[in-house]
Amino acid sequence: MNIQELVEKYGDYQIEMRRWFHRHPEPSCEEKATAAKIREELDRMGVKWRQCGLETGTMAVIDGRAPGRTIMLRGDIDGLSVTEKTGLEFASENPGMMHACGHDCHISMLLTAAKILNDMKGEFTGRVVLAFQPAEENGKGAKAMIADGVLDGVDACFGQHVWWDYPAGTVAVCEGAAFASCDMFEIDVTGKSGHGAEPQASHDATVMASAIVQNLQTIVSRETTPIDTAVVTVGTLESGTRWNVISGYAKMTGTTRSYSPEVQKKLPGQIERIAKMTAEALGGTAELHYECIVPVTYNDVTFAKCVKKSAAKLLGADAVVAAHPTMGGEDFARYQEKVPGVIAFMGIQNEACGACWPQHHDRFTVDESALIRGAGLYVQTALDFLAEGMQA
Ligand code: NI
Repeated sequence: MNIQELVEKYGDYQIEMRRWFHRHPEPSCEEKATAAKIREELDRMGVKWRQCGLETGTMAVIDGRAPGRTIMLRGDIDGLSVTEKTGLEFASENPGMMHACGHDCHISMLLTAAKILNDMKGEFTGRVVLAFQPAEENGKGAKAMIADGVLDGVDACFGQHVWWDYPAGTVAVCEGAAFASCDMFEIDVTGKSGHGAEPQASHDATVMASAIVQNLQTIVSRETTPIDTAVVTVGTLESGTRWNVISGYAKMTGTTRSYSPEVQKKLPGQIERIAKMTAEALGGTAELHYECIVPVTYNDVTFAKCVKKSAAKLLGADAVVAAHPTMGGEDFARYQEKVPGVIAFMGIQNEACGACWPQHHDRFTVDESALIRGAGLYVQTALDFLAEGMQA
């Protein structure tokens, strides 16, 4: 298999699919037209599929000429509530929705990979499972597909994310953490309201909340080893009802990120201790509600080396570039909790075609010439894993 052949044989299909999905972005858990199109394409290829997990989840299977190992390839399919401002001729037709994270690229790369693998099924042994996963952005999709058996019998899993700050066509594979853990928290602060002119008779929830926001900063600066990384962000803070009334209640919401399960595990306790004791010191109380959205996306080191080898084989050694993890979250982490897995970054940056905006930006776009390379990388990684297992 060489990349030039793939471009000639499957390049047009790749672009046609990417543009169709780009026109039709849908919210997490509501990817109905998207799922219908994926299934229609699989039917057209003669690839077996079933609904999996959520209503909009699709799992397909391609068996080689004889039994062997099984690899799962994953592409996520949901859009974002962003109003597109790219001006592309195939821009979103769904007002207020946009494929601003590039999941349209993932769907089309995985469909193209399905087409290639289906054409080659007489040439490999083992099984390829394709997971067209909905609801990545809210962290629900992977969990639901796993509960419905997408990983049954699977030996390893591989995913890709197109990424804005790598040059188009390059591949970057982290050995270890690739995406951060992502948790969500809410803190309710209760004081005692009163007249704005009589602080001595009240306990001001605004002052408590402000002090909590300040003190939370010490989790990263004073409690986390400088070798590790963490983020504690308070995103919203609401307090009070009126300019001349001392607030009796405040509420804040925020998120935490980390690259290490150990750091992540400590965060809820640290936030709770600081919030409670700060509020108490000022005469009030605080309650924490803490929820883990996704754990750290941790690439299996041995498999990561294999993926780099596959990428170099298909695209040339120069295409494999140094990788840096991102502080974003990815529910691909859920698969990696069950089987060894790698998610690679496929570079799509190219200023000449306007592909220079970060993920989730309303002008985010990609250099489409990179996408057939992504489709090829799905295939090459699968073929190498099925033939050799993890031999880095
Ligand atoms: Ni994404």
